[in-house]
Amino acid sequence: MTIFFILTTFFIASSTSSDTLTGTQTLRTNQTLSSQNQTFVLGFFRGSNTNYYLGIWYNNITPQTIVWVANRDNPIDNSSGYLKIGDHGNFLLLNSSGNTTWFSSNQTIAKNPLLQLLDTGNLVLKDSSHTTNNNNYLWQSFDYPTDTVLPGMEIGWNFDAGMEKHLTSWKITGEDPSSGDYTMKLDYHGLPEAFLRRDNQTIIFRTGPWNGEGFSGITAMKDNTDGLKFNFKDDEHGVLYYFTVTKPSLLSRIILTSDGEFERYMWLQASWNKFWYQPGDQCDYYGVCGPYGVCDNNASPVCTCMQGFSPKNQEAWNLRDGSDGCVRNTGLDCPNDKFLHRENMKLPETTNVFVNKSMTLDECESLCKRNCSCTAYANTDIRNGGSGCVMWVDQLFDMSVFSSGGQDLYVRLAASDIGSTSSYNNHRVVQAIGITLSALVLILGMAAICYIRKKRQQQRSRGLVHRSHDSLMHEVVVSSRRHSVVNRRNMDDLELPMFDFDTLIMATDNFSQDNKLGEGGFGSVYRGRLAEGQEIAVKRLSEDSGQGIEEFKNEVKLIVKLQHRNLVRLLGCCIEKNEKMLVYEYMSNRGLDSILFDKSKKSLLYWERRFTIIYGIARGLLYLHQDSRFRIIHRDLKTSNILLDNEMNPKISDFGMARIFDKDQTQAQTLRIVGTYGYMSPEYAMDGNFSIKSDVFSFGVMVLEIITGKKNRGFYSDNEDLNLLGNVWRHWHEGTALSLIDSCIGDSYTEAEVVKCIHIGLLCVQERVEDRPTMSSVVLMLSSEAPSMPNPKNPGFIARKTLPETDSSSSKRDETWSVNQVTITMFDAR
Ligand SMILES: *[C@@H]1O[C@H](CO)[C@@H](O)[C@H](O)[C@H]1NC(C)=O
Ligand SMILES: *[C@@H]1O[C@H](CO)[C@@H](O)[C@H](O)[C@H]1NC(C)=O
Ligand SMILES: *[C@@H]1O[C@H](CO)[C@@H](O)[C@H](O)[C@H]1NC(C)=O
Ligand SMILES: *[C@@H]1O[C@H](CO)[C@@H](O)[C@H](O)[C@H]1NC(C)=O
Ligand SMILES: *[C@@H]1O[C@H](CO)[C@@H](O)[C@H](O)[C@H]1NC(C)=O
Ligand SMILES: *[C@@H]1O[C@H](CO)[C@@H](O)[C@H](O)[C@H]1NC(C)=O
Ligand SMILES: *[C@@H]1O[C@H](CO)[C@@H](O)[C@H](O)[C@H]1NC(C)=O
Ligand SMILES: *[C@@H]1O[C@H](CO)[C@@H](O)[C@H](O)[C@H]1NC(C)=O
Ligand SMILES: *[C@@H]1O[C@H](CO)[C@@H](O)[C@H](O)[C@H]1NC(C)=O
Repeated sequence: MTIFFILTTFFIASSTSSDTLTGTQTLRTNQTLSSQNQTFVLGFFRGSNTNYYLGIWYNNITPQTIVWVANRDNPIDNSSGYLKIGDHGNFLLLNSSGNTTWFSSNQTIAKNPLLQLLDTGNLVLKDSSHTTNNNNYLWQSFDYPTDTVLPGMEIGWNFDAGMEKHLTSWKITGEDPSSGDYTMKLDYHGLPEAFLRRDNQTIIFRTGPWNGEGFSGITAMKDNTDGLKFNFKDDEHGVLYYFTVTKPSLLSRIILTSDGEFERYMWLQASWNKFWYQPGDQCDYYGVCGPYGVCDNNASPVCTCMQGFSPKNQEAWNLRDGSDGCVRNTGLDCPNDKFLHRENMKLPETTNVFVNKSMTLDECESLCKRNCSCTAYANTDIRNGGSGCVMWVDQLFDMSVFSSGGQDLYVRLAASDIGSTSSYNNHRVVQAIGITLSALVLILGMAAICYIRKKRQQQRSRGLVHRSHDSLMHEVVVSSRRHSVVNRRNMDDLELPMFDFDTLIMATDNFSQDNKLGEGGFGSVYRGRLAEGQEIAVKRLSEDSGQGIEEFKNEVKLIVKLQHRNLVRLLGCCIEKNEKMLVYEYMSNRGLDSILFDKSKKSLLYWERRFTIIYGIARGLLYLHQDSRFRIIHRDLKTSNILLDNEMNPKISDFGMARIFDKDQTQAQTLRIVGTYGYMSPEYAMDGNFSIKSDVFSFGVMVLEIITGKKNRGFYSDNEDLNLLGNVWRHWHEGTALSLIDSCIGDSYTEAEVVKCIHIGLLCVQERVEDRPTMSSVVLMLSSEAPSMPNPKNPGFIARKTLPETDSSSSKRDETWSVNQVTITMFDAR
C-alpha cells in the first residue's frame, strides 16, 4: 500500500570501484556496481518475500527507489546467488546451487563482453573489442522496462528490432517486484495511444492519442514547463514515447504502481514529489460515460450528452450511471449533415480510425463529409495552428472535456440538431458570421449565463432545504475492486443484488439475539452467514426510518455506484413485507476503535499498519470528496466507523449521515447537528456549518488518535484542562511531539514519518476552516517523502471545557460499543 519503497533490505555495500564487469568477474549479493558519476547503482535487494533480486536504484536517495529489476519473476533464494558473464557473452544469475535462474539473452555472442551501468540508469552489455561502435549495445536494460520509465527510456514498438516495451506494475509496489496486475502499453493501431489495463484485459485508463505536445488525455503534460521534454516517434520504424530532462541534475521518473496508478515523480528538495497521477478523477476512468457521452469533472453528474444526443438509458443516467452513453436525437442524413465543434476535448478512442498526417483540417472535413460512415474528425497535431486528419468511422467512445487543454473535435450531426446556438456551429459558418454578430452573441451569451447562474443559485439555496431531509443516505457502499464498475460498458452486473427475506432469516438465524452486533436509531445490525458460506452483516432498518420504498431503492442504487477499496462494500439489499435491509460484507476485525483502544490488542497495530490505515482512510475520504461522481460529506467520521478487514485494511463505513453535495457546492448548514463530539469541527458543532473541511477535521482527530492510541474524548493528561488535541499541540510546540507516540509501538517506526503524520494531523484540526488542507493535499503529503508543509495554527477545541455538553445520541454509545458496521445515529426530532 505504501507508495514508497520501504524495503527490508540491508546492504553491506562494498561497491566495486569501477562501473563495469568483465570476464570472470562476478557480482555477489553483498556487492554493488555504481554508474560512472554515481547516479545509479546495480545490486541485489531483497523483496518482502526475502528473495534476492538484481535491480538498479538511485545511488544517493533514501528511501531506496528501485527503477529496474532483472529477475522479477525468477528470484534467487539465498545470498549465495550471484551475477556473472555467461559463455555466450550474455550475463546470468545463478542460484545457490549454481544453476541459472535468469539470463539476459541467449542470442548475444560477444568476444569480450563488458557489462556497464550508465549514468542514465541503463545497464548495457557491450563488446569491448568494438570500441568504435560505442552505442551499439548487445543488450540494454532500457529494452526491458519493469514498472518505471526513466529519461531516455523508450516505451512502445520498435518495428525494426521487432521489439515491444511496456510497463508492468510490481505485485506490491515497494515490497514484491514480481509481475503485478497492471500494464501500461502503447497501441499502434489507428492513431497511437497508451492503455492502462488490469489483468491484460480490462482497460482502466487511456492516455488519448499524441497530439504533438503530449497525450491528449493527460493535461498535465506540457512540454518544457518543468525541465522535461516529451517526445513521440511514429513512423514505419516504430511508435515510441520517451521523455528527456533539459536540466541534467533533474531526476524524474514515471511509475505504474501495483494499485494501477500511473504517476510522475520529481526529486525536489530531497524528496520525491508526485507531479501528477492518472487516473486522477472520475472522468479518467475508461468509458465512464459510454458511447457519445462526454465526461466533465466540473459537472454534476459528470456525464453529459453532446448537443444533438440524449441519454440512451434515462433511468440509469438519472442514477449517475452514464455507461450506456447517448444516442442521436435525429438520424443522419448523409450529404446534408453538419458538424458540431467542441473545444478542449480528450479525443475519443482512436484504435479504429482513419489517419492522414499531411491533410489540412479543411481537407479532413470534406473527406469526412463525403464518407457517410465518418462520425467525427479532428487534427492529429495541435501545434502551429493544427495539422493532420483523424477521422472516426465508428461510435465515439470515452470522451472528456477539460477546462483547459485538450483539443478541438468536430462531430457529425443531422443539420436540424445543430440548432440555433451559434457558438456550437460549424467552425466555418462561425467564421463567416463576422465580428459584429459574434460580439452581439457574446454579449447576449454572457447575459444569459449570468441569468442562468443566478437562477441556479436561487434554486440551489431553495433545494438545500429539501436536501437536508431527503438526501441523507442511509448507508454506504464499497468495493474492494475499485474499478470494477466504471469500466464496464454494460450495466447488467451493476445491478444491486436483491436478497430475499427468507435468505436473510436463515443467514442470521432469524435475527437471533446472539447474532446481534448492535443497534441504534435506524434499526439493528446482525451478523449472518449465507448458504455459500460468505459472512455478511445485515442492517435491518426499523419501519419508521422515514423513507419510502422507491426513495430507498434509488438511494441504494445510487450509492452502490461508489466504489473504492477503502469504503465498506454493500452487497445488496432486501425490500419485503415492510422490511428494508442492507447487506454488507462482514469485516472480521470490526471497528478500528475496538483494537486501537484495547490494551490487549493495540500492539497488533505496529507503526506500518497504522500508517497504512491513515493512508487508506485518507484515500477513501478523498474519493468521497472528490473522486466519486458526487461530492459526499460523511459527517460522522470516527474510529468506530473505520472497519478493518482481515488484513487490517481500513474501510470507511456508516454513511447514515452522509450528505451529497453538488460538485460546486462547498458548504451547507443544518439545524440538526448530528455526529460525534470529539470528532466534530468547531464550526459544525457550534453553528451547524459543514463542508468537506469538517470531515478533514474529523480525519485529523483520527490521525492523532491513531498515532497516540488515545481517544480525544476521555483523554486525561497531567494537564487536566487539555484534551488530546490540546496536548498534542502543546508537545508540538515544545518539540516533544515524538513522545506522544503510542508506547506499544516500540521502536519500530520511522521518526520522520511519525512526525509528518502528527504534522498533518495538526494541519487538519486547525480551528479556521480555510487553514485546513483538502484531502487531496493530505494524500499528497502522506505519499511524499518530505513534503513542504505550512506550520500548523492552533487547533479547534483544545480545552476540554469548551466541549459542548449537549447530548448527541451517538456520543454516548460511541464510548461503549462499536460493531462490525455501524454506529447508528438517531436524529434529533425534526
Ligand atoms: C561477501 O560475501 C562473500 C561470500 O558470499 C564473502 O566472502 C565476502 O567477504 C563478503 N564481502 C563483504 C564485503 O562482506
Ligand atoms: C560525469 O560528471 C562529469 C563532471 O561532473 C561530467 O563532465 C561528465 O559529463 C559526467 N558524465 C556523465 C556520463 O554524465
Ligand atoms: C544457500 O543455500 C545453499 C543450498 O541450499 C546452502 O548450501 C548455503 O549455505 C546457503 N547460503 C546461505 C548464506 O544461507
Ligand atoms: C537452483 O535452480 C535450479 C534450477 O532452477 C533448481 O532446480 C534448484 O532447486 C535451485 N536451487 C535452490 C537451492 O533453490
Ligand atoms: C543444477 O546444476 C547442477 C550442477 O551445477 C546440475 O547437475 C543440475 O542438473 C542442474 N539442475 C538443473 C535443474 O538445471
Ligand atoms: C533462447 O531463449 C529462448 C526463449 O527466450 C528459447 O526459446 C531458446 O530455445 C533459447 N535458445 C538457446 C540456444 O538456449
Ligand atoms: C499478461 O500477459 C503476459 C504476457 O502475455 C503474461 O506473462 C502475464 O502473466 C499476463 N498477466 C496477467 C495478470 O494475466
Ligand atoms: C494524404 O493526404 C494527402 C493530401 O490530401 C494526399 O496527397 C496523400 O495521398 C494522402 N495519403 C494517404 C496515404 O492517403
Ligand atoms: C469511409 O472511410 C473508411 C475509413 O477510411 C473506409 O474504410 C470506407 O471505405 C469509407 N467509405 C466510403 C463510402 O468511402
